[in-house]
Amino acid sequence: MPAHLLEIKDLHTYFTTKEGVNKAVNGVSLALDEDSILGVVGESGSGKTVTALSVLQLVPFPGEVVKGSITYNGAELLTMTSEQIRHIRGKEISLIFQDAGAALNPVIPIGKQVEEIVLEHTNIGGRRARALAIDLLGQLGIPDAKNMLSRYPFQLSGGMAQRVLMAIGVALEPKVLIADEPTSNLDVTLQAEILHRLSELREKNHSAIMLITHDLGVIAQMTQTVAVMYGGTIVEYTDTKSLFAKPLHPYTSGLFKAIPRLDTGQQALNPIRGAPPKMIDAPDLCPFLERCGKATNQCRTMPVPPLLEVEPNHRLACYNPVVYP
Ligand SMILES: Nc1ncnc2c1ncn2[C@@H]1O[C@H](COP(=O)(O)OP(=O)(O)O)[C@@H](O)[C@H]1O
Ligand SMILES: [Mg+2]
Repeated sequence: MPAHLLEIKDLHTYFTTKEGVNKAVNGVSLALDEDSILGVVGESGSGKTVTALSVLQLVPFPGEVVKGSITYNGAELLTMTSEQIRHIRGKEISLIFQDAGAALNPVIPIGKQVEEIVLEHTNIGGRRARALAIDLLGQLGIPDAKNMLSRYPFQLSGGMAQRVLMAIGVALEPKVLIADEPTSNLDVTLQAEILHRLSELREKNHSAIMLITHDLGVIAQMTQTVAVMYGGTIVEYTDTKSLFAKPLHPYTSGLFKAIPRLDTGQQALNPIRGAPPKMIDAPDLCPFLERCGKATNQCRTMPVPPLLEVEPNHRLACYNPVVYP
């Protein structure tokens, strides 16, 4: 038995452009286990989506996985043929994207789009595929699913479109679900509803979910383990409780300070100063260096800090972490 259901090891995915090499993912290692939710959190541009796309060989040109390994049930995904990976997609591992409007085919009724994945990957015939589509849409909270089948994506609200996309994502009961900001375009009520459905699916199928978000509230509510990404790397990786109780990386600690405190009514938002790093031809230094209030001479001269276990199950990539009394 492989140690993990899905394991990403030392992944490097680069985009070679006229401006130089964008090291979008620069040495990411992650593990995902059955029946669990791993959160991946980080500012826009930190490499979350490119990591997700790398898993299923979906990185667009001129992007390329230049180094690393991604195994599913012990089998290497990066070297699979397009035919082999096609059997994995949707059936074993599903990706649910943020922008449902763009991910759905605008000229095909939504019922057909749900049925298609079932027809393509299983022996289930037309009638039953239709029944399954109705059932799936219903499970995701789409009212009157039967009559919705003939609707086109443009006739749906954002929340409904997101549910359809999720129905397609889970139609074949994949073991791994990668949800890339599945709720970030939705209002709070809808967000809660979609997240609730996601939890239900995990319970029902014992699937593993990688939940990508920039929302720490979602992380707190949904995940057991969390990886914090910054500048194409994982800077902190631990169980969710420990991260919230004791963030050790100055970046993570900054993220928490940037959230308005509802409990104390404190208004001040303290955004982390500075801009996210430019990853084009990035120097071999800590990516957070320029924005870090705790940077020392060591940080300015040493290579990118490795992700090391500094406390049981708490991994950290930092030379000068936050200290707690
Ligand atoms: N198609 C592309 N061409 C060139 N660069 C890209 C492309 N897609 C993503 N990138 C770059 O890769 C980096 C990581 O992006 P992304 O994974 O989308 O970040 P996140 O999902 O964390 O917001 C960014 O610097 C982004 O500009
Ligand atoms: Mg993204």
